[in-house]
Amino acid sequence: MAELNLVLLGPPGSGKGTQGERLNEDLRLPYYATGDILRAAVRDETELGRSAKRYMDAGDLVPDEVIVGVIAEALDSDEARDGFILDGFPRTTPQAEALDAKLAELGRSVTAVLLIDVSDDEVVRRLGGRRTCAANGHVFHVEFNPPEKEGVCDIDGAELVVRDDDKPEVIRKRLDTYHEKTEPLIDYYDHRSVLRRVDGVAPPDQVTEELRRTLATMRLEQDEAV
Ligand code: AP5
Repeated sequence: MAELNLVLLGPPGSGKGTQGERLNEDLRLPYYATGDILRAAVRDETELGRSAKRYMDAGDLVPDEVIVGVIAEALDSDEARDGFILDGFPRTTPQAEALDAKLAELGRSVTAVLLIDVSDDEVVRRLGGRRTCAANGHVFHVEFNPPEKEGVCDIDGAELVVRDDDKPEVIRKRLDTYHEKTEPLIDYYDHRSVLRRVDGVAPPDQVTEELRRTLATMRLEQDEAV
C-alpha cells in the first residue's frame, strides 16, 4: 500500500487535534502536532518555548524558521519512515515549500491533505468552551464533549485548563491569521491534487468516519495509479 504522509488542515478549533488523536490510534503513524510541541516547550521553558511564547499568546504564528527546523528533525527520524500525520504544519506557503523540499530530499511527498471545514462562528463557539489537559493536551469541551468529572481529564486524571490563546480577543486574531496566512494552502494543495474537504461541523464521531472514508478512497486511488 502507498505510504501515507498526511497533513491535517483547518482553522483553529476545527477539530484537528480531536481527529488527529483518533487517526493516530487508527493508523499507528507518528503524530506531530506543532501546537502541542510548542506548548510543551513553553511549559519546559526550553529555548524553543521562550522564543515561541509571545507569538502564541498574541495569536500570531511563530517564525517559519523556528518551526520548520522542528518538523524537519521529526521527519528525519526512523519512526516517520513509513508515514506520518502532521497537525498544524504547514501553516504558511514557505512552510509548505520547506516541507516539500524536505520530503523531496527523502524521495517522498505529501500524499494526502484533509481540510476540516468549519465557519468562523463555530470556531468562536468551540474555543470558548474548550478545556485542555494540562499534562498531555487531551481536548474536551464543556458542552460538546464534557469530561466525566468537571475539570479533570478522563484519560490521565490531570487538571483541565483554558489555554492562554483561547481568550476571545486572541481567538479573533488567530482566525485572522488563519485566513491571511494558512488559507492559501488550500489552493497550494488543491493544485497538487492531494486535498480533500471534510465537513467539520458534524458531531466528532461522524467527522472521524468521514475522514476514514476519505482516506480509504484516496489510498485506493493512489494504489491503482501505481
Ligand atoms: P495549535 O495548537 O495548532 O492551534 P490551532 O490550529 O489554532 O488549533 P487548535 O488546537 O486551537 O484547534 P483544533 O483544530 O486542534 O481543534 P480541537 O480538536 O482542539 O497552535 C497554537 C499556536 O501555536 C498557534 O496560534 C501559533 O502561534 C503556534 N503554531 C503552531 N503551529 C505553528 C506553525 N506551523 N507555524 C507557526 N506557528 C505555529 O477542537 C476545538 C474544540 O472543539 C474542543 O473543545 C473540542 O472538544 C471541540 N470539538 C472538536 N470537534 C468537534 C465537533 N465535531 N463538534 C463539536 N465540538 C467539537
